[in-house]
Amino acid sequence: MRYFKKIVGERIYLSPINVEDVEKYTEWMNDIDVTINLIAAPNIYSLEKEREALIMLSKEGYNFAIVTLDKDELIGNCGLVSVNLIHRTAEAGIFIGNQNYWNKGYGTEAMNLLLDYGFNLLNLNNIMLRVYSFNKRAINCYKKCGFKEIGRRREATIIGNRKYDQIYMDILASEFQGKIPDKIKG
Ligand SMILES: CC(C)(COP(=O)(O)OP(=O)(O)OC[C@H]1O[C@@H](n2cnc3c(N)ncnc32)[C@H](O)[C@@H]1OP(=O)(O)O)[C@@H](O)C(=O)NCCC(=O)NCCS
Repeated sequence: MRYFKKIVGERIYLSPINVEDVEKYTEWMNDIDVTINLIAAPNIYSLEKEREALIMLSKEGYNFAIVTLDKDELIGNCGLVSVNLIHRTAEAGIFIGNQNYWNKGYGTEAMNLLLDYGFNLLNLNNIMLRVYSFNKRAINCYKKCGFKEIGRRREATIIGNRKYDQIYMDILASEFQGKIPDKIKG
């Protein structure tokens, strides 16, 4: 089995990362249309470098593969970093590498599953994220999940001599209704 149904939604599920997907991840991490939206855009990812990254991501932290329920197809990745279990905060990250799956609600569904995991299993209270101001698709996706803008780091991203703000967004546990608590019967 390549994937395991850790957090299950309507059309996708979050699974532990499979390092054998290294070629697909390497393709995505060298695809400028995907990475222009990510901090990793200038990086050059060889198979070896990506394998090392995947080995780490698959063993440590809170990282998931996003997989379709109908075909068990890997479409992207999401996770929580900077998890602080004292103050119950974390930072979320997501990308869908397969562009055929953009704009079809998969990002919203994956982020909702990640929030369900973060709020209802890790018992986090505040989950934030950062997004470039030009990334309207991501901003809309995050708003649909309940994230609100909390501030901007002005001109903190420079691409081709143009300057863009980094937008900070967050969501509280009290603003999120997940499905994991319904797993308790009786
Ligand atoms: C960002 C990302 C996770 C969003 O996932 P997705 O499945 O494409 O997003 P969704 O379909 O759930 O939601 C996107 C929304 O933005 C809207 N949208 C798309 N392009 C837009 C644009 N240029 N301007 C305004 N809204 C736009 C869509 O119509 C949709 O809203 P709707 O459902 O109300 O119609 C995914 O596109 C992705 O991984 N992109 C590349 C990497 C990336 O940007 N990662 C995030 C870094 S912060």
